[in-house]
Amino acid sequence: PRTEVSMTKEFDGKTVIVTGAGSGIGAACAEQLAAAGARTVVADLNLSGAEAVVARIEAAGGMARAYAIDVSDPESVKAMVDFTLSSFGRLDGAVNNAGIGGPLKPLADYGLDEWKQVLDVNLNSVFYCMKYQIAAMLQTGGGAIVNMSSILGTNGFANASAYVATKHALVGMTKSAALEYSAKGIRVNAVGPGFIRTPLVENAMDEATLTGLAGLHPIGRLGASHEVANLTLFLLSDQASFITGSYHLVDGGYAA
Ligand code: NAI
Repeated sequence: PRTEVSMTKEFDGKTVIVTGAGSGIGAACAEQLAAAGARTVVADLNLSGAEAVVARIEAAGGMARAYAIDVSDPESVKAMVDFTLSSFGRLDGAVNNAGIGGPLKPLADYGLDEWKQVLDVNLNSVFYCMKYQIAAMLQTGGGAIVNMSSILGTNGFANASAYVATKHALVGMTKSAALEYSAKGIRVNAVGPGFIRTPLVENAMDEATLTGLAGLHPIGRLGASHEVANLTLFLLSDQASFITGSYHLVDGGYAA
């Protein structure tokens, strides 16, 4: 007689999009989602970064597709959702994670175009993503969305006014979208990481600055991408079925 071995994984049968998945936090989310059974769309401006993540996922036995996208372009975002539906037939989850730090300088020194670029990539992008993702999710009865905010979604940070403005705004957009779609089976949450050791911070700051930043976290170090992914997967999963419209910190105690 055949022995039936149950190998059910949490995200079996689900399709999830991760933006900014070619690096850092997004890459960790994509790899963990695929390991948990999700068919994962690894979307990034940097296609070779996305392809490297897909190669790692496939080597580990997961299913993923790389997709080149500019989240600040609504047509590109719509095409990403269409690609997901044509590849996998449905959309169950999304991690709207792509983002940039923007220039580090005082507010009055910001150029008009510099300011607008940070808003386009970090904030308008999440409107475009949710607009098309929600339309797709409604076709199959619901889903879950995580928007990547930051500890700077509630705290300020000198010389990063544009970034801080976008991360605060994501929290409000998340709450409103959650109110609008909770009765239709879509949960929307925001994640607020403390400082995480990724190319975003490593390229913007020298090691002495990073050591100083680590000291602002009571746990005494910067976070790791997989620690943000752990929370993100929980919020996307059915284990979080009663959690929507909230902002969840993973910050080593920074805000305490
Ligand atoms: P990262 O720089 O390692 O990865 C960001 C990815 O987004 C890159 O692969 C980049 O190519 C992609 N990207 C940038 N602009 C894009 C665009 N227009 N279209 C599509 N993809 C684009 O950065 P990290 O640290 O992994 O950041 C991910 C998210 O987490 C960002 O939203 C960031 O603001 C947020 N975050 C990061 C923290 C940190 O300390 N690293 C702390 C709190 C939040």
